[in-house]
Amino acid sequence: MLTRLLTLLLILVLVVGFSAQAQNKYVGVKTCSMCHKADKTGNQFGVWSKSAHAQAYKTLTGEKAAAIAKAKNIKNAAEAPECLECHGAVDAKLIGTYDVKDGVQCETCHGPGSAYKTMATMKDKPKAIAAGLHEFKDAAAIEKFCKTCHNEKSPTNKAFKFDEYWAKIKHTVPKP
Ligand code: HEC
Ligand code: HEC
Ligand code: HEC
Ligand code: HEC
Repeated sequence: MLTRLLTLLLILVLVVGFSAQAQNKYVGVKTCSMCHKADKTGNQFGVWSKSAHAQAYKTLTGEKAAAIAKAKNIKNAAEAPECLECHGAVDAKLIGTYDVKDGVQCETCHGPGSAYKTMATMKDKPKAIAAGLHEFKDAAAIEKFCKTCHNEKSPTNKAFKFDEYWAKIKHTVPKP
C-alpha cells in the first residue's frame, strides 16, 4: 500500500515537474548577454559571437548551402526543417524573444531560460537546474550532447574531435 502511494506520488511529482519545464520559453541571446558579457566573468557573449555557432543560420543562406539543398531537392535551406534542426531552430511553441537568425545560441545548449534567467536563480545552481538550466554532469556528457548535431546526419560532416572543438568554443568563468 505504502509503495503504491509513493509510486503515485512520484508520478505526480514527475508530471508536475515536466509540465512546469515544458512551459519554459526561449528568451534569446540578447537577454543572456546582459549579464554575460563582462571580461572579468569570462565574456561568454563575446566568445560565442566570434564562434561558428553564431553564424549557423547565416551559413544556410550562402552558396554552399544552396548547392547542398539543390542536390537534395530542398527549395530553401534557410527555411528547411531538415537543415534548421541543427543550424538554429528550436520548438516553435517555446519561442519567446528568441531569433532563429542567431543560429546555435546560448539556450540551444543551456535550455530555454525564461525561468532561470533571474539573478537570484542564476546564483543558485540547483535552483537554476530545477528551473530548466541544462545540467552537464561531466566532459563525457558534454561530448555526447555536441554529437547530437556533430554527426553523420550533417551533409558536411567532419570527424568531431572533442578536445579540439571544445577548445574553440569554451567560455569558462575565470577563477578569481
Ligand atoms: C540577471 C543576470 C543574468 C542573466 C539575464 C543570465 N545570467 Fe547566467 N548567470 C548569472 C550569474 C551572476 C551567474 C554566476 C552564478 C555564480 O557563479 O554565482 C550565472 C551563471 C550561469 C551559468 C553557469 C551555471 C553554473 O553555475 O554552472 C550558465 C550556464 C548561465 N549562467 C547561462 C545563462 C543563459 C543561457 C542565460 C540566458 C537565457 C543567462 N545565463 C542569463 C547571471 C545572469
Ligand atoms: C544544435 C546543434 C549543435 C550542437 C548541440 C553543437 N553544435 Fe557545434 N556546430 C553546429 C553547427 C550547425 C555548426 C556550423 C556552423 C557554421 O559554420 O555555420 C557548428 C560548428 C562548430 C564548430 C566550428 C567547426 C569548424 O569547422 O570550424 C565548433 C568548434 C563546434 N561547433 C563545437 C561544438 C561543441 C564543442 C559542441 C558541444 C559543446 C557543439 N559544437 C554543439 C551545431 C551544433
Ligand atoms: C554549443 C553549446 C553552447 C553554447 C552555444 C553556449 N554554451 Fe555556455 N556552456 C556550454 C557547455 C557544454 C558548458 C560547460 C558546462 C559545464 O562545464 O558544466 C558551458 C558553460 C557555460 C557557463 C559556465 C562557465 C563556468 O566556468 O562555469 C556559462 C556562464 C555559460 N556557458 C553561458 C553561456 C552563454 C551566455 C552563452 C551564449 C552567449 C552560451 N553559454 C553559449 C555549452 C554552450
Ligand atoms: C545533424 C545536424 C546537421 C544537419 C541536419 C545539417 N547540418 Fe549543416 N552543419 C552541421 C555541423 C555540425 C556543421 C559544422 C561541422 C561540419 O561541417 O560537420 C555544419 C556545417 C554546414 C555548412 C558549412 C560547411 C563548410 O565547410 O563551410 C553548410 C554549408 C551546411 N552545414 C549546410 C547545411 C544544409 C544545407 C543542411 C540541410 C540540407 C544542413 N547543413 C543540415 C550540422 C548539421
